[in-house]
Amino acid sequence: MGEKQNLLSLEDVCIGYETPTGTVRAVVNATLSLSAGDTLGIVGESGSGKSTLAHGILRLLPKTAVVTGRMMFQDVDLLRCDAKTLKDLRWKDIAVVFQKSMNSLSPVHKVGEQIVDIYRVHVPQATKEEVYDRMRHLLSVVNLPDRVLDLYPHQLSGGMLQRISISLSLIHQPKLVIFDEATTALDVVTQGQVLSEIRRLQSEMHVTSILITHDVSVVAETCRRVAVMYAGHLMEVGPVDQVLVSPRHPYTQGLLASFPSLSGARRRLRGIPGTLPDLKAEPKGCVFAPRCPKAFDRCHESMPPAVDTGTGCTVKCHLEGSER
Ligand SMILES: Nc1ncnc2c1ncn2[C@@H]1O[C@H](COP(=O)(O)OP(=O)(O)OP(=O)(O)O)[C@@H](O)[C@H]1O
Ligand SMILES: [Mg+2]
Repeated sequence: MGEKQNLLSLEDVCIGYETPTGTVRAVVNATLSLSAGDTLGIVGESGSGKSTLAHGILRLLPKTAVVTGRMMFQDVDLLRCDAKTLKDLRWKDIAVVFQKSMNSLSPVHKVGEQIVDIYRVHVPQATKEEVYDRMRHLLSVVNLPDRVLDLYPHQLSGGMLQRISISLSLIHQPKLVIFDEATTALDVVTQGQVLSEIRRLQSEMHVTSILITHDVSVVAETCRRVAVMYAGHLMEVGPVDQVLVSPRHPYTQGLLASFPSLSGARRRLRGIPGTLPDLKAEPKGCVFAPRCPKAFDRCHESMPPAVDTGTGCTVKCHLEGSER
């Protein structure tokens, strides 16, 4: 077909958490693909399923989670491969940076020593010098001096620790890095610096990345494509310069209206009235219908399928591609 091979492709992925009072439908029919070099932002309100989707890709979900559908990473079937294949993939091929990744470091050992231990999980024979050489280069990429390796975690600021997590995530040259709210806890200045390092990694080291955030402006500055998530559904997926400039989904429109203008004059914030639906209940119509200013009859009857708009975007909305 001459199509560019996808690095990651998700097809109809559903993730539910089993609880005593019912199943939480955290991700519903997610279809998405990422080619090498792509940068995808996933935005959505708190609780919309962003982290669940990311953890699902890494198979790091709790035992109560049930995953269906298809998730391919190159030619590896992530849902059906054995534990060893998965263990080899994590960190080496797919790395993740969480909001407070470095909180798991031990306070009684120097940062560098712990990094050597982490590296040796995949490369047991590595010498300290090899690991330090590699880390020195990666630290320079995130603008940190080598001496941080000889410090203890408590001697470093949150921003420095987060930069170390980012450089550490790259130590095995992964093909895909997932940043899950990796800059959220940082102050605005540090966040700006870390984001510009992430952009540099993308352009200089051709890192393919997924950046999860509730902040649309972070995606606008950092990503080429964006997926807008609401109540477990990928409502609108497409290039940033389309989705964030001329959004087609009423939810995306509402989300953008609730952010200060990315350029130009500040506008009054105008949140979307209402709250996320109960994810345990099976919705009759579109999950967004109860809050949607444009909802009509059909929206209260069935969830719209993902429709290709013909402009490189897919949208789950009954207003798309059919006569009202
Ligand atoms: N272990 C779990 N058991 C049951 N429900 C869970 C579990 N983990 C998450 N959930 C629920 O799944 C839904 C999606 O959660 P998730 O953490 O993926 O959202 P999110 O978009 O990452 O939110 P945030 O922006 O706050 O990080 C939420 O309703 C959450 O309460
Ligand atoms: Mg999350």
